[in-house]
Amino acid sequence: MKVVSFFSGLGGLDKGFADTGYDIIWANDFDKYAVQTYKANFGEHIVLGDINEIPLNEIPDCDVLIGGFPCQPFSMMGEQKGFEDTRGTLFFRIAEIVDDKIKRGKKPRAIILENVRSLKTHNNGRTYKEIHRILQDVLGYKVFCKILNTADYGVPQTRNRTYIVCFDNQTAEYEFPAEQKLDKTLQDLLEHDVDNKYFLSDRILPTILSNGTGGYKAKSEIDLKIARPLCATMAKMHRACQDNYVTQKGRVRRLTPRECARLQGFEDSFVIPVSDCQAYKQFGNAVTVNVSRAIAQSVKDTLKELGEWTD
Ligand SMILES: C[S@@+](CC[C@H](N)C(=O)[O-])C[C@H]1O[C@@H](n2cnc3c(N)ncnc32)[C@H](O)[C@@H]1O
Repeated sequence: MKVVSFFSGLGGLDKGFADTGYDIIWANDFDKYAVQTYKANFGEHIVLGDINEIPLNEIPDCDVLIGGFPCQPFSMMGEQKGFEDTRGTLFFRIAEIVDDKIKRGKKPRAIILENVRSLKTHNNGRTYKEIHRILQDVLGYKVFCKILNTADYGVPQTRNRTYIVCFDNQTAEYEFPAEQKLDKTLQDLLEHDVDNKYFLSDRILPTILSNGTGGYKAKSEIDLKIARPLCATMAKMHRACQDNYVTQKGRVRRLTPRECARLQGFEDSFVIPVSDCQAYKQFGNAVTVNVSRAIAQSVKDTLKELGEWTD
């Protein structure tokens, strides 16, 4: 099954599909450091560039199209009715690419999209409604959507994300993957011999450990068993009510990039060729591999039932 991947980042979503027997033939991202990590792990099929500027005829035809499109402001969507309402958003670019393939008789059999949890409630639900409408009524897909939590797929991180799975075949009966038992904690994933730079100084410690203030009241807790969601701004220091801190040898420290990799389901063989700052951003942006693998398998099962799966 040939897959084209958009907004590929360091390849979390792609890895789940590749591990499940799909063939990723083309990927894209406009962040040169993400492309560097992707190439170091998956090969040269990723193209560096802005998806809005890549000509439609340079994007290969495929059986399955995947993408965790960035959560842009969708403020222009909602009130109006046309396909044009999403113009200028990255979702629109995906829709435009699919539309072009349909016009040339090369409609992908399935589309898998990922976004933040709040996609479904954004703008009183109108943003998602419009995305759903375009996928279903304009592009002609049968659409399934669910919020899945990484912690329900074997990895100790609370990470709720919206997953949209679409099939061209209107008879498709798709079930999102079943939840699995969590048998690990964040502590099981920690490294044991960690560079001093990850430990907090006595000067910064009180700030990090203080509770949220003002409009953002939250309790600071460290040493959580299930990590808070990794975020793309992890390189900056956040309070312990927002980010993950652990105690080791009596001292408090942040997570290392390798621990972030583990919390996103990557094995230790995954190469991290970029700075800590870029690595935190890329892992914070990624789809957890265990979740993408479970979705890839469930989509494969459905395509097999439909007699549409090809090796
Ligand atoms: C949420 S991340 C995707 C992470 C990826 N799905 C994964 O699992 O690792 C979104 C990515 O979209 C990329 N991006 C944003 N706007 C883009 C554009 N106009 N063209 C190409 N890539 C873009 C960002 O650089 C970022 O890596």
